Amino acid sequence: MFATVACSSSEEPGEGTKKVEVFTWWADGGEKAGLDGLVGVFKTDCADYEFLNGAVAGGAGSNAKQVLASRLQQNDPPDTFQAHAGAELSDYINDDQLEDLSAQYTEWGLTNAFPKGLIDNLTVGGKIYSVPANIHRANVLWSNKTVLAKAGITKDATTIDGFFADLDKLKAAGVAAPLALGKDWTQQMLFEALLISKLGPEKFNGLWNGSTPWTGAEMTAAINDYKRLLTYTNKDRDTFDWTDAEKLLMDGKAAYQLMGDWEAADLDAKGFKDYGWSVFPGNGNVFQWLADSFVLPKGAKNADGTKCWLKTVGSATGQAAFNQKKGSIPARTDVGTDGFPAYQQAAMADWKTATQVPSCPHGSACAQTWQGAVGSAQGKFSSDGDVAALQTALASAAAEFGPKK
Ligand code: GAL
Repeated sequence: MFATVACSSSEEPGEGTKKVEVFTWWADGGEKAGLDGLVGVFKTDCADYEFLNGAVAGGAGSNAKQVLASRLQQNDPPDTFQAHAGAELSDYINDDQLEDLSAQYTEWGLTNAFPKGLIDNLTVGGKIYSVPANIHRANVLWSNKTVLAKAGITKDATTIDGFFADLDKLKAAGVAAPLALGKDWTQQMLFEALLISKLGPEKFNGLWNGSTPWTGAEMTAAINDYKRLLTYTNKDRDTFDWTDAEKLLMDGKAAYQLMGDWEAADLDAKGFKDYGWSVFPGNGNVFQWLADSFVLPKGAKNADGTKCWLKTVGSATGQAAFNQKKGSIPARTDVGTDGFPAYQQAAMADWKTATQVPSCPHGSACAQTWQGAVGSAQGKFSSDGDVAALQTALASAAAEFGPKK
């Protein structure tokens, strides 16, 4: 095959285009570094095509999701876009927006390359509609080592009570808001990590499959603990993206941040070395997972080029290049640990033995409508702290958007 020079001077893809527009929200830091790693492999493996970066920055993904929704509605899809495995992917499948990739799975030998559970999360009605790029872990507590040392904290807390005690120590040592927090889905993540500790993995899973009620006393107790946790966070949280909260940690104004492991890549990309990590206190050996995957939307202008992109995403070389920079681990089971930073090597080991639970804000546990309802209930709670109102709103969201009995 001959490498092709872009045949059009326009940046817009069109009929007969060689460009493959890849739509993500990975515009900066470790996320951009991960994408760049994948693009490097695409350039070699798909020299007939040209990568067109369709990343939409800002709002940590929420801007991108809005733009994507309106483009899909106007029948103007990008050639491919990122979508989370699980319920979020089903949204697009049920709306008939994606092409079936089952034939490509057979052709590229992907069917046995990924764990069976993940394949199940990507399959609807016996067909498979996307190629996973990674597995991220959501329930990680990042820390600033110097701030912890100054407050005399030498060990990671393993229970919620131990965590409250450490947060109190930090406050006493003059760290006014030791737990850095952002808005929207970042608050959902913190609440879910706490729920995993309070309910245990089985009951936590039950919140999403309908077997655990949102109305019980255990949930009330968890919301009360969450309310207490918020008292250790920055008051301006509702104006902060996850990267603004991360900056508080880097600047030593906070000691901790609960965030997915894209934070490892982002701290590395920003050159901040003084960080530690642990599983969120009380989560034990639970791995709260999410997976980014890429799709072939119906009506994509360059379906052949997109298939080449998807083949790269699913390849062992593509997954190594992407995940070494993205903070996540390969979804494929045959990629070795060589070349991965220490954090990911530890996550790769954990993934093999841990109990897996999904994430609602990152699509593996719930559809986007449900996520939106939880998000607004928590946003309201962030300003009014009304425990009963939050519990009622969460229960109605589950009744409206959760599995029907
Ligand atoms: C998640 C996505 C991750 C990371 C994160 C923060 O939804 O799966 O790859 O990008 O958002 O932007």
